[in-house]
Amino acid sequence: MTVKFKINGVEVEAQEGVSVLDTARRYGFEVPSLCHHEAIAAYGACRVCLVEITKGGRSKLTTSCNYEVLPGIEVVTDSPKIRKHRAMVLELILSEAPGAQAVRRMAAEHGVDVSRFVRPADGEHKRDNCILCGLCARVCTEVVGVSALTFNGRGDRRGVGSAFMDQPQSCIACGACAWVCPTDCVGFEEKDGMRKVVRWGRELPMAKDEQGRPVAPTYQLFHFQKVAKLPADFYKKSPGNRS
Ligand code: SF4
Ligand code: SF4
Ligand code: FES
Repeated sequence: MTVKFKINGVEVEAQEGVSVLDTARRYGFEVPSLCHHEAIAAYGACRVCLVEITKGGRSKLTTSCNYEVLPGIEVVTDSPKIRKHRAMVLELILSEAPGAQAVRRMAAEHGVDVSRFVRPADGEHKRDNCILCGLCARVCTEVVGVSALTFNGRGDRRGVGSAFMDQPQSCIACGACAWVCPTDCVGFEEKDGMRKVVRWGRELPMAKDEQGRPVAPTYQLFHFQKVAKLPADFYKKSPGNRS
């Protein structure tokens, strides 16, 4: 069903179930975000995507990535009040990820160059720019279909990785988690015929093509073969004979 409502005074429409954030972007309205990707279910972790929504005469600031469109609502994506709240949220996030370029840039755009909230500097509490947005774990489960990652630890020691904080054994080193991470803190390297996903300490050998060039980790190719139900000899055939 199509839902009609307004964003910044403009009449818009979207399919039921779509988020306000995705709709706003589709109509060209800029809304910042750190923990959102349109291919992955919303989680609402970073709170950077705040907008103001008026429904039934009442207004509230709310995250737009996990707010589904509703008939007749009025959305404002930018105002001094929204920017003030986003600035506070970004200042907090900057204290978690002072080295993350995307966070620094977004914070600077909201007038925040330095965070007043300083996290303990010792190694035990350091998250190395991870903002616990969970995108890496969600892409691994929802898109890759592997579920190698989860939240682990508690309180200040909360982090993301394998359930037992060791090398995630089911990881196929596809690199999707490194690609979606908004703070670039996962890390991905290919060297000497090996691919390494740095943050998880996972290193796997690469399969090679007929010219001896590395293609992808063998585990990743097997995973694709299984998911796509490809014949057992699929990779042995030359590319022109695959069907
Ligand atoms: S590299 Fe490993 S942990 Fe990351 S998305 Fe791929 S399978 Fe999951
Ligand atoms: S490693 Fe990156 S994607 Fe994963 S939770 Fe931390 S910031 Fe988010
Ligand atoms: S993008 Fe909406 S809470 Fe992070």
